[in-house]
Parts: sequence; structure tokens; C-alpha cells
Amino acid sequence: MALVELQGVEKVYRLGETRVHALRGVDLTVEAGEFLAIWGPSGSGKTSLLNLVGMIDEPDAGSVRIAGENAAGLSENRRAEFRNHRIGFIFQSFNLVPVLSALENVMLPLQLRGEPTRLCRDRAAQRLEEVGLTDTARHRPDRMSGGQRQRVAIARALVTEPDLVVADEPTANLDSETSHDIVRLMRALNDSHGTTFLFSTHDPRLLDQVKRLIRLEDGRICGEEVRG
Ligand SMILES: Nc1ncnc2c1ncn2[C@@H]1O[C@H](COP(=O)(O)OP(=O)(O)OP(=O)(O)O)[C@@H](O)[C@H]1O
Ligand SMILES: [Mg+2]
Repeated sequence: MALVELQGVEKVYRLGETRVHALRGVDLTVEAGEFLAIWGPSGSGKTSLLNLVGMIDEPDAGSVRIAGENAAGLSENRRAEFRNHRIGFIFQSFNLVPVLSALENVMLPLQLRGEPTRLCRDRAAQRLEEVGLTDTARHRPDRMSGGQRQRVAIARALVTEPDLVVADEPTANLDSETSHDIVRLMRALNDSHGTTFLFSTHDPRLLDQVKRLIRLEDGRICGEEVRG
């Protein structure tokens, strides 16, 4: 069974009288273990697509299935629970809680599940070690660099051991060397844990690590490339 299955997906935003057709019939299948990038210019529909895959939003037509579960068939509560258990998110702007330390930020998704504090702390510390941040575990985000913040966000996305990590332009706020480091780190985690990664970028220089590349233009998939 495919991990992600999109069929004939359409997304239309309505702004008063205006309609913006952001996705125009997208079919996409992602198997477990893939490391896949969605590449396209600004406005091509990357965020719209990733929000659907991450079950943050619903399509206007077509179907979205994640791990066999049809997003449209779930109640709001079930959908939130499904997200918490199966999907990790990495955001462009990191979205860390400023008053919490790196460790506390990474603990959060497990605490939301009601796991015991000690288990949350142990798992979070383990994830921070994997992203090379053991020494900064007690720091708050305002004392960290952009690259360190994004590493915390990666650790947080992985702490629940999700099947799928969705990252919308995770390197957009980082300089090019740090961006390469972040993509290499995600790829290393894909290799070591088999976690499926789906990320978007408009920067072609970041694509040398990807196993599959989907090109999006005007809300349509207009190219695909499979790499080694
Ligand atoms: N909430 C919204 N309301 C109205 N229009 C929207 C909304 N979100 C996106 N759009 C429009 O839908 C189209 C696709 O936008 P989307 O954000 O998915 O593209 P993107 O590829 O992520 O762009 P960027 O690289 O700038 O982030 C664009 O024309 C955009 O203006
Ligand atoms: Mg976007």
C-alpha cells in the first residue's frame, strides 16, 4: 500500500468574487521510504499540495489518502489524532515555542499525547543528539542560529516516529551552506530510519540529495525525475 495517494486533487481558494485555482488535478503516489522534493516557482501550488498531504487542509475535488486513510472520511478530532501519530511537520519559519527550551520544544508532541514526562524527555534528548544539538538542549530558540532552530524543528517532527515528514520550504530562511546541511541531515535520517520525507523548495541547488523530484507549475505536475 502506498503511503501517500493523491488522485485528481483540486484546490480552489475563494477571495470574495475571485477564485484562485491553486491545484488543477494532481495525481501523486509516494511509497514508504522515499525522499522526495516538490520543486516549482512561487505560486505553483507547493504549499497547497503539502497542506493536503499533511492533512492540514482538504481538497475541493479528488481524494487524499495517507497510509490508506481517506482524509475526507475523518472527523476533525480523528484527523488531529492521525496527524499527531503519523505525520511530522517542519515549517519554513521553524514555529518553535519561544519560551520553551530546545528540549521542551521537542518533548511537546509526545506530551500532547499524554506520554509520561520522563519518556518524553528521554526521547527528545535522543532526537536532539541525532541532529547534533545535545549541547544546546537547554537553550531557548532566541539564543540559537537559524540552522540550529531548524534542527530543533526536525527533531520535533521526528520525535513521534512518524511515517511521513512534510516540510514546506524548510530552508527558505537559511543561508545556502546551512540549507545544504539541513537537506543532508534530512537525507541521513531518511537513510537511517527509513522515514519518508516530502519537502518543497524553489532552490534547484538543494536537489542533489533527493531520490525523486516532482516539478510543479501552475497547479499541475509537469515533470518527474527519479535519481539514484
Ligand atoms: N489562502 C489563500 N487564499 C487565496 N489564494 C491563495 C491562498 N493560498 C494560496 N493562494 C494562491 O494559490 C496559488 C498557489 O499558492 P501556494 O502558496 O500553494 O504556492 P507556492 O508554490 O507554495 O508559492 P511560494 O513558493 O510563494 O510559497 C497562488 O496563486 C496563491 O496566490
Ligand atoms: Mg509556499
